[in-house]
Amino acid sequence: MKHRVGILGSKGKMGQRVIAMIAEAPDFAVAEDLDAADVLIDFSSYTALPDHLSRARSAKTPLVVGTTGHGENAHQILSEAAKEIPILFSPNFSIGIALCMQAAKLFAPYFKTIEIQEVHHTQKKDAPSGAALAFAKALHCDPKTVRWARTGNVIGEHTLIFSNDNERIELKHNAFSRDIFARGALQAARFLLNQPAGLYTFKEVFI
Ligand SMILES: NC(=O)c1ccc[n+]([C@@H]2O[C@H](COP(=O)([O-])OP(=O)(O)OC[C@H]3O[C@@H](n4cnc5c(N)ncnc54)[C@H](OP(=O)(O)O)[C@@H]3O)[C@@H](O)[C@H]2O)c1
Repeated sequence: MKHRVGILGSKGKMGQRVIAMIAEAPDFAVAEDLDAADVLIDFSSYTALPDHLSRARSAKTPLVVGTTGHGENAHQILSEAAKEIPILFSPNFSIGIALCMQAAKLFAPYFKTIEIQEVHHTQKKDAPSGAALAFAKALHCDPKTVRWARTGNVIGEHTLIFSNDNERIELKHNAFSRDIFARGALQAARFLLNQPAGLYTFKEVFI
């Protein structure tokens, strides 16, 4: 039997890629009715988070949150809702960014300066990106020092530069298709279907 995935933001760029990836997945189907979904994936807008948490809580449906641009209270409201339902939040669902995060944490203690840069398409509503802010938090960098740019159709470029006096390491991730995020979000949904209530991260899906 296929699990029914309800997509919040289904008409958007990410929502459309999730629908396309579900068509290729043997174990998932798109839920025609959000109230009948077995799991929800939110790629709408950060402004919709309170509404979408309340929908998921009332229906007791696991929720994957992929939106970015949230304010400081997001973690608190996610944690509150996660007492009742399984929730996985990640500002970036690519395996490459998750691995860069692991590598960055390994490099960081050995370098004097760390620079974080990101480039995205011009329609992106938030800046810096959620992934860049997650790097800043994990590496103890001031988020105000993140350098960002918006140009053309760039799906997502993140660069981390670790420098000492006579050496530097550059870690660069390029996203060439939104399919990497859509597949990651479906992996997260698959994971959540078997979890008790709680707040999970993408790292827990593949480690
Ligand atoms: N975690 C990740 O890996 C990842 C990857 C890529 C993007 N994202 C994030 O995912 C979100 C969506 O990105 P996108 O590129 O798909 O954006 P998008 O193309 O603008 O799509 C957003 C969709 O959500 C709908 N929407 C907006 N506000 C809503 C609300 N309050 N309630 C319900 N639906 C609403 C929009 O409808 P209208 O057009 O009618 O407003 C649109 O269909 C952004 O926050 C983005 O940063 C995350």
